[in-house]
Amino acid sequence: METIQGRTSHELNFNGLTERLADYNQILLDLGTGDGRFVCRMAGQQQNRFFIGVDACRENLRANSRSKLPNALFVIASAQALPQELNGLASHVTINFPWGSLLESLLSSEDSWVSRLLSVTRPFAGMDIHLNAEALVTAGWTLESGADQIEGIVNAAGWKTKSRSWMDTHLLCSFPTTWAKRLAFGRDPRAIHLNVQKG
Ligand SMILES: C[S@@+](CC[C@H](N)C(=O)[O-])C[C@H]1O[C@@H](n2cnc3c(N)ncnc32)[C@H](O)[C@@H]1O
Repeated sequence: METIQGRTSHELNFNGLTERLADYNQILLDLGTGDGRFVCRMAGQQQNRFFIGVDACRENLRANSRSKLPNALFVIASAQALPQELNGLASHVTINFPWGSLLESLLSSEDSWVSRLLSVTRPFAGMDIHLNAEALVTAGWTLESGADQIEGIVNAAGWKTKSRSWMDTHLLCSFPTTWAKRLAFGRDPRAIHLNVQKG
């Protein structure tokens, strides 16, 4: 699979990845990681866990992927075609403020991509999805109806809801992603946090 560090791409095969992960029991996958700020922050704070940020767009990852954190890795891939090397690895998945095709996939009940997430996750893996109003409105939904749709799809794919809560400006401000900060000071600072667990 293609990994990125600054401007440089590296191919990392299954054996190379296994070596990188050897000292870690918990592997967290951040899909649509954007500029990678969340992965760097969490990897710095939780050094006993390994964080993998995945994004289809390499440009925004140039700065943060230079980080020398031993427990962080950035992969260039579409969330709908996750590399085989990641199969069965993730103990937890985060999807923070998805837009574009990532959000469309979450919303689509026809070919539930969320059920395919089963292949990269371990039994009883958790998943946190943060959804914001503007992205859902742009996709043709309201925040509530879009969150209902996504919750229904993830539930049908075997992920049980543990909690669902609102995020306000204050919570968005304190949430460690670049997009959360932009939303907090934007026109519509409303978001919903959905926490689910694979059954
Ligand atoms: C609104 S940004 C959020 C970035 C980051 N999670 C944050 O909170 O700062 C959405 C990200 O999803 C990525 N994205 C959209 N569709 C994707 C897909 N199909 N596969 C992987 N990444 C995708 C975009 O490139 C973008 O970086």
